[in-house]
Amino acid sequence: MTTEPLPRFTVIGHRGARGHAPENTLLSIDTAIRLGADWVEFDVQHHDGELWLMHDLTLDRTTNGRGPLHAHSADSLRRLDAGGGEIIPTLPEALDLIEQRVGVNVELKSWNGCAAAVAACLRDYIADGWPADRFLVSSFHLPELWEFKQLLPEVPLGALYCGVPLDWAGLAAELGAQTLNISGEFVDARLIADAHERGLRLYVYTVNDEAELWALRQMGVDGVFSDYPERALAVAGPA
Ligand code: G3P
Ligand code: CA
Repeated sequence: MTTEPLPRFTVIGHRGARGHAPENTLLSIDTAIRLGADWVEFDVQHHDGELWLMHDLTLDRTTNGRGPLHAHSADSLRRLDAGGGEIIPTLPEALDLIEQRVGVNVELKSWNGCAAAVAACLRDYIADGWPADRFLVSSFHLPELWEFKQLLPEVPLGALYCGVPLDWAGLAAELGAQTLNISGEFVDARLIADAHERGLRLYVYTVNDEAELWALRQMGVDGVFSDYPERALAVAGPA
């Protein structure tokens, strides 16, 4: 009996390469690229006229600042240390570093005009020659994705989910998303089949364990977010 070779899955560096460098920094992104990740993912929040790469709503865990990001001016955010002397980068700084070497998944983490600001930024890069399909804009907050879609429909969307099982694939398809990005504990064969039947790629976060990576590949998921891109690349299959 012959078996079909498993398709390669896409390796997405999570918050850059968070296992190796301070998350959501230029160093982390550059590390993910040097390790060979196909894509990088990072979190973006809109504040004081800038798009900041930051996961938490507060500064305490990942920087030497204190309190909510939104309580600080852009000038004071600029001066913070995001780990190992790294700054909190802005979206243009990240894109200028990446220079189209990998695909870019921008996760919208704030809902205060973030979609519009990201759309304006990406529109400029697309006008400069960046292929729209080398971006993926994702969010847990589907209304924000809907707003983004009205502004820049050529950029693919990723619907993010974590929580009680619902008709995730149906909701993502209704939105017109291209990927369904889901936490590992909620992935099963039925969901994968449902996503694929609807033409969605299924991406799983955050997967750092080798056995789990192998299991997901064998189940037929299309991509994984990993803090350690090299671990996912070791099981991803030939390019
Ligand atoms: O986009 C996948 C993953 O990054 C979503 O969760 O909390 O790491 O932003 P979180
Ligand atoms: Ca994220």
